[in-house]
Amino acid sequence: MTEKIKIACVVGTRPEAIKMAPLVLALKGDPAFETSLLASGQHTDMLFQALDHFGVEADVNLDIMKDSQTLDHITTAVLGGVGRFLDSNPQDLLLVHGDTTTTLASALAGFYRKTPVGHVEAGLRSRDLTRPFPEEANRVLTDRISTLYFAPTPLSAENLWAEGVGKPRVFVTGNTVIDALFWTLARIGETDLLRGMPARQPLVLMTAHRRESWGKPLEEICAAARSILEKHPELRLLVPLHKNPAPRNTIMDALRGCANVVFTEPLGYPEFVAVMNRSLFIMSDSGGVQEEASALKKPVLILRELSERPEAIETGTGVLVGTDRNRIEREALRLLEDESYRRSFADADRGAPFGDGNASARIVNIVKNYFAEQSGRVPGS
Ligand code: UD1
Ligand code: UDP
Repeated sequence: MTEKIKIACVVGTRPEAIKMAPLVLALKGDPAFETSLLASGQHTDMLFQALDHFGVEADVNLDIMKDSQTLDHITTAVLGGVGRFLDSNPQDLLLVHGDTTTTLASALAGFYRKTPVGHVEAGLRSRDLTRPFPEEANRVLTDRISTLYFAPTPLSAENLWAEGVGKPRVFVTGNTVIDALFWTLARIGETDLLRGMPARQPLVLMTAHRRESWGKPLEEICAAARSILEKHPELRLLVPLHKNPAPRNTIMDALRGCANVVFTEPLGYPEFVAVMNRSLFIMSDSGGVQEEASALKKPVLILRELSERPEAIETGTGVLVGTDRNRIEREALRLLEDESYRRSFADADRGAPFGDGNASARIVNIVKNYFAEQSGRVPGS
């Protein structure tokens, strides 16, 4: 029997947990690999809430989160922690995901040790380093020091090629979030949260947390929400709050006293998926939610000035509305009052720009082939 390929996957935040869980399950179920899951613990509650849903356990938890932590703290704590892990447990490949500070600091720890880094969800670009902040820089810098690139869409692969990344190292795989979404849809029924809501009451879902929206932009978003609710008192606005106190407090202060607003703690992934499905439309600045809404054919008003996921906009499930209260209100009222417009989102055939639910299986095969070509090793035999 040949040696197994040693792979460590790193996750730090909720979206990394959701998007890496299907890949971790696929790798752990394949005898060619010896797979470890390393949690940076950049998030505590939200990270493990997401992992638990998939029945995935971290092998190591660096547990770095502090209240109202700084970017410097996350960067240095994750760099040191992942570095020490790699020193005592050398790996053939380090897999990181997306654009968080855990992603960049982990990739750097791998790079410093000449451990090949595989970037899952590589190549997304807004082309403005301040939006989203600091995520655009995190993903650009991670791509600069990676070895293997798992681009979710053809456009993200083109972005990498345009920056000079060699074609043989870039693979279009689809986004693993669609794997996670389909896996979850196959396992959920009606949730307690929805059972407690009158079936006929129209529901709108809103989430917002991005750093560049803290303060005035978030206040504008909430002012739009308040105005929409005043014009449509039959609506219920469900707002699962992020744990980060900065956006959380702004949103709670701005919407306090609004009759039809329901605040919740971060929802478990199956509950959140059920709510997305049940909503008339979604208002969100989240990256993952844009991709999921596209697969669910659910209209999403993207509360950002620009997006690194133009596929959602081009295929028409996402409408980029920015953070100006009038624009948000106008688009929301159109969705509420023009039923044929709203229905057009569900009826149109928009393809599957973010994937078909098989991204993880593709990545596993690509990694096997990569090591087979590198060393003539026959994985798992
Ligand atoms: C982070 C990522 C962002 C990603 C988001 C997903 C960075 C710089 N930011 O932003 O890219 O879109 O996660 O949700 O990588 N907190 C808790 N419990 C938790 C999680 C957070 O209490 O489970 C609180 C803590 O006070 C923490 C604060 O939120 O200090 C901020 O967390 P942090 O990870 O720094 O930023 P996010 O806004 O969550
Ligand atoms: N999500 C969740 N519960 C919630 C809100 C979001 O499970 O209360 C999921 C959502 O479906 C998506 C992911 O969390 O898969 C997005 O996370 P977030 O918005 O925190 O980060 P981003 O995608 O913007 O980086």
